[in-house]
Amino acid sequence: MINRRKFLKLAGSGAITLISSAAIPSQTKSFALSTQTTHTQVEADLIINIRSQPGQVPIFSGPKTNVWKYSAEVLAGDPSSITDMGDESYLGPIIRAKKGQRIRIQFQNDLPARSIIHWHGLHVPADMDGHPRLAVPAGGQYTYEFQVQDRAGTYWYHPHPHGRTGYQVYGGMAGLFLVSDKREEDLNLPSGNYEVPLVIQDRTFDSDNQLVYLPGGMMSRMTGMMGDSILVNGIPDFRLDVSTRVYRLRLLNGSNARAYKLAWSDGTPLTIIGTDGGFLSRPLKKSSVMLGPGERLDVWADFSKNVVGDILHLVSQSFTDGVSGMMGGRHMGRGMMGRKQNLLNGTKLNIMNVRVIKKENESRKLPQQLVQEGSITPNDTLNPDTPRKFELSMFHMHGLINGKSFEMTAVADDEIVEAGTSEIWEFKNTNQRMGMMGMQVPHPMHLHGAHFRILERSGVSLDSYMDEGWKDTVLLMPGERIRLLVRFGQHPGLFLYHCHNLEHGDAGMMRNYLIENKSSTTNRFQVT
Ligand code: C2O
Ligand code: CU
Ligand code: CU
Repeated sequence: MINRRKFLKLAGSGAITLISSAAIPSQTKSFALSTQTTHTQVEADLIINIRSQPGQVPIFSGPKTNVWKYSAEVLAGDPSSITDMGDESYLGPIIRAKKGQRIRIQFQNDLPARSIIHWHGLHVPADMDGHPRLAVPAGGQYTYEFQVQDRAGTYWYHPHPHGRTGYQVYGGMAGLFLVSDKREEDLNLPSGNYEVPLVIQDRTFDSDNQLVYLPGGMMSRMTGMMGDSILVNGIPDFRLDVSTRVYRLRLLNGSNARAYKLAWSDGTPLTIIGTDGGFLSRPLKKSSVMLGPGERLDVWADFSKNVVGDILHLVSQSFTDGVSGMMGGRHMGRGMMGRKQNLLNGTKLNIMNVRVIKKENESRKLPQQLVQEGSITPNDTLNPDTPRKFELSMFHMHGLINGKSFEMTAVADDEIVEAGTSEIWEFKNTNQRMGMMGMQVPHPMHLHGAHFRILERSGVSLDSYMDEGWKDTVLLMPGERIRLLVRFGQHPGLFLYHCHNLEHGDAGMMRNYLIENKSSTTNRFQVT
């Protein structure tokens, strides 16, 4: 196990001395658990400045769109650790790191609002996780120091200030965090121009090309923000030009609330090689795959059978999310400017066009074994027969988990777990009647500080879940119940579990749980 103590040290505000992008920590240094009142400095392999600030991007012709955007620069370490998404995109740069790397990220919040960055899917110490209690004010700073301990995979970063996460992410604040490792290198997957990050989001724009957030008032808070335009990497009508060969597509559903039922328009199955927490043990073919907000997919896309001139579409097929009936068909919550109707969750959509433009010969084969891993079963958990149960509901304008809304630092007695252990957790999306105040809606549940496997679903209404592999976010449609085998990280402290429908999280469908480390005398939890 990687131990953060091995690489952090207390130091003055001097220059960084050790920089080596490939190094795995070998030196032992003592450190004090950093708080933001002491200035700690990492002996880091990678040092990055990230700034969040208002900006303008040319999304459409005509007026530029006002956005909030992350920008970054590498201060020390491999300069290719950051890839800008371009001036036309509001997305933050892609951060690339290697497993084992020690990273220091200096966050400068130049938004006119409180904010904090969360590293979605990464196991980091509790005070490095971007918990809302750590949000810094406009003009404030926060320094992150952590070692990348997760497997190669598609992770991401976004703000997490309580009550404002949906607004800030919608405004443009999100980016990918790609981790690589030795195993990934050995797999020799398509890379460079053949490895394509695809962040799928929906947005509503007014006639001046400006973002419209929650135009439908209370109802759109309940469903979450559903935009009427689909953007990929911040670009509407996204087109990918490809050669007749294999591509690796790394998909993130970065939407606030919309789920997608992804499929190729020509009926070719999707070949899935990875999910939230990295590679599956072996590739999986599915005719369509649900991707809820926050979830990721690593896709092997083989265009070698295509010919130049072919056009394919990545689409989202229609599905029923349980809300449409109540919404009175397709006409409620219409867009503010009357441009288009607000598209309900489950509406059939085009996500992007793929145009085959070049002939290339390639003899790449899909690896049959991606990663090797020992099996883990319910009997390896602390509670094989007595799952911890969580009921999800919306009531009045509050999101509830077991009847409780988010409290900034509170943890209930049944929200305490032990570091490094595994438990069965069960989430239930209550199928309550749609009265005036209650409502059935999908809930994509997400855990910080832990990864999980999906053991079983019941009450299932859809056939296109991809429930293999290690996950950190899982979609529950109304009436569904899901059993997870959760493996908690080694870092003690307060971590969140919440609905990744960002409007639901902001409405309180979020709680803390506490990871305790009983075997350690020094790591007892303290609220900082
Ligand atoms: Cu991606 Cu707590 O969030
Ligand atoms: Cu997260
Ligand atoms: Cu929800």
